[in-house]
Order: sequence, then structure tokens, then C-alpha cells
Amino acid sequence: MALCSCAIVILGASGDLTRRKLMPALNTLFGQGHIGKSCVIVGSGRTFFTDDGFRNRFEADRDFGDLLFYHQHTPGLRNFIMSKGNFSRIIVFLSQPPSAYQSSIKELAADGFGKETMIALEKPFGYDYDSACKLNETLLKCFDEKQIYRIDHYLGKEVVQDILVFRFANSLFYPLWNSRYIESIQINAIESEGVGERGRYFDGAGIIRDMVQNHLLQLLCLLTMEAPVTLGADDIREQKISVLRSMEIINCNRFQYKGYRSEKDISPDSLTETYAELSLRINNFRWQSTPIYIRTGKALHRKGTEIGVRFKSVPQVLYNRSGDLNENTIIFKIQPQEGIILDLSTKIPVNSTITSAHMNLCYREAFSVPSPEAYQKLIQEILNCDRTLFVSALETETAWQLINGFSDKGAPGFYPKGFMPTGDSNIKWIDFDSYAGVC
Ligand code: BG6
Repeated sequence: MALCSCAIVILGASGDLTRRKLMPALNTLFGQGHIGKSCVIVGSGRTFFTDDGFRNRFEADRDFGDLLFYHQHTPGLRNFIMSKGNFSRIIVFLSQPPSAYQSSIKELAADGFGKETMIALEKPFGYDYDSACKLNETLLKCFDEKQIYRIDHYLGKEVVQDILVFRFANSLFYPLWNSRYIESIQINAIESEGVGERGRYFDGAGIIRDMVQNHLLQLLCLLTMEAPVTLGADDIREQKISVLRSMEIINCNRFQYKGYRSEKDISPDSLTETYAELSLRINNFRWQSTPIYIRTGKALHRKGTEIGVRFKSVPQVLYNRSGDLNENTIIFKIQPQEGIILDLSTKIPVNSTITSAHMNLCYREAFSVPSPEAYQKLIQEILNCDRTLFVSALETETAWQLINGFSDKGAPGFYPKGFMPTGDSNIKWIDFDSYAGVC
């Protein structure tokens, strides 16, 4: 159903994020009828454009192009929007470098953006705990938490949204989801690309701030939180915060790829980590003795994000007398392929050998609808005023508290580009590469 009387505003409208992500997603949502013809999309920024000049920057067909307008600078922006129609909701995307967030928020409030406004902004939310608190303070001085949509694009990925469904809609797994039965939880989020054009940002951040503080801790929250009272945003957030507060980092190893220091905008003596391996513990009744392992990095041998939940072995009797039977494992394949795989031990027909077999739920084959792009899904949720897939102020602050200090611990080790991580030999890592061809 098309939504009407809504103005969508993009601050930083001449930037890369607007061109690459935001406009294509808005265009698709318009094509699908989620954005009605009575809406407007108003770009704003420091650069001057005429409306037509702004429209011509995007490959927009005529109907979508008709929704687009441009207003230079924030002062006067609200009046400009209201001159285009009587909108009951204004969604403002801060599509700018995070360093501009604070001043933009204050300018919006000063220009009269009030209760009808929804503010959408992307990570990084601050650089550390203190800066995140300051950003939240500014946001909450000008707007209410209910008006704020902090985007973590991992929450828009289909398999990520399926984690809670898998856990709480299947009686099969629900009783087993604790330290008594689960041996370890492992997250593998690796990329083959290096830092590319994003050196300036990345060198000041590092992979722990860039990936762990947000995306990977969010995955971990969904995997380990208690059942929420309802599926409403506030109840889910409450449980995520509670489990985040119980998390503790036990060990953290940091590495940098060789050649990183000669990449564009990287300091020649940079100590920033591009790959990290972390062990965590969750200090609560459910998880206390289940170790959590995370590894994430850039310039590695392939791109892929997977979660593995490995169950404890069966007792060392009968088929497992020698103790080498594979443990049951659930793999959530988030990307590039999407699927959920369950590894079981089974007998090979005719012969009596026990082998490990995959039971696959491959999204591409199981569902006839292709998964929407994460960003598109999240914008659709903002249009629906649903905050469930967005991150609260307290979640970001608690996550910063957890990782504070772990990014800046001295010189990292080195690895060659294209490295295939095997992980710390004391840890029994799941061989995620062996699932690459499944799904
Ligand atoms: C971003 C990080 O948030 O996520 C990038 O800033 C990273 O460094 C990217 O490459 C990974 O996203 P995806 O969806 O490709 O896994």
C-alpha cells in the first residue's frame, strides 16, 4: 500500500551514499508502491543544484524524478518542504560524514523540525563510548528516542531477521539453546577487499570499531538474548541490552594486512587492525560456560558472513567411542548465499560408516521471492514507523562500553593479503569454508 503525506529529506544529497544506496532503494520502493506519488524527496546540502540539476544526477524515470526537489543548506528547509504539500511526516536521512551529525541535528531543530520528524542515521554512532554518549545527548535534546532510527544495515539482511524466528518459532531448538547443550557460538565475517577508498575513515577506526561494535554484536544479541515479552521494538531492545551488559571480552588478537600502510589515506606507521579474533563470554545463567568466538577482517581469501552454533558431542559410547564423531552444528549463512544448514550424523547407505550430512534450507531454492537489499528493507521499515530493526541509544552505548580499549592495544601482527585465517590453534574453529558451496 502506498504511503502518502510523507516528505523524505536527504541531508548530504550530493554524496556517495545517496547515489549508491539511498536513491536506488527509494526508486525501487516507489516502483513497488511503498512511496506514493503524493510524497516528495528533497535533497539538501552545501552544494548548489537546481531541482532539474539534482534530478539529473540519478538515473530516475520521469515519475520518480517528479518527486525530487533540492534546497541548498538547512535554514529554510522546513518551510521549503511545507511549500510542496501538507506532510504529516518528515523523514530526514543524515547521509553525511558522521562528523557532520551533531551540527545537522542542531540545525534541523533550529529550523523548526519537530514532532513530525523522523531522523535516520547510519553507523558509526560515535567513535567510542564518550562520543556516542555525546551524539545521543544532542539527538535526545532535539528529538525523542522514538523519532530516531539508527541504521545498522546487518539488521536488514534476511537471514539475520530469521534468527529470532528460528529460535522462537521452533520448539525443536528452543529448549537446547543454552550452555548445557551448546558448545560454542562462532561468527565469521570476512571480506576479500581491502580498505579501498575508505582509508581516511577506516584508519581512524579499525575493524573492531567498524564491524564488531555494531554489526557483529547485533548478531550476537539476536543469537543469545532471552525471549522478549512481545515482538515490539522496545521489548526486543530491552533483551538485547540485557545480554549485551552480560558480555565480556576475554581475549582479542589484532592483525593488519601487509601493504595496508601504503594504501590511500593510511598513515605510514598505522597500528590500526584490519583483522581481529575475539573470544567472549556471556556472564548469565543461560550462557556462562559457552565460549563465543568472533573473527572478522579485510583482505582475506573470500567474502562471507556465517554464524555457527555448535552443539556438544554425544557421550563417548556407541557410535562415538573414539570421540571423533562430528558435533551437530547449525550454520546461518548470511551472505553471499543465504541459508540455514543443520549438520547431522548419519549412516552411509549399505555401508556402516557414520558421516556428517547437511540438511539445507537454501533461501534461493526454498522461497520464490528474492531477498530485498538490506537498505531497501530498512527504509521500508522507517516508512512504516517500525523501529524493531533499528538500534537504540542504550544499545550503542553499551556496545561501545564493551569494546572500549580493545581497538587501541598496541601493535598488531601481520598477514598477507588473501590470507585464509585458520584461527588460534587453541580454539576449535568451525571450518566455515567447507560450507561455501552449500546453498
Ligand atoms: C560496513 C563497514 O558497515 O559494513 C565496512 O563500514 C564493511 O567496512 C561493510 O565492508 C560490510 O557490509 P556487508 O553488507 O558487505 O557485509
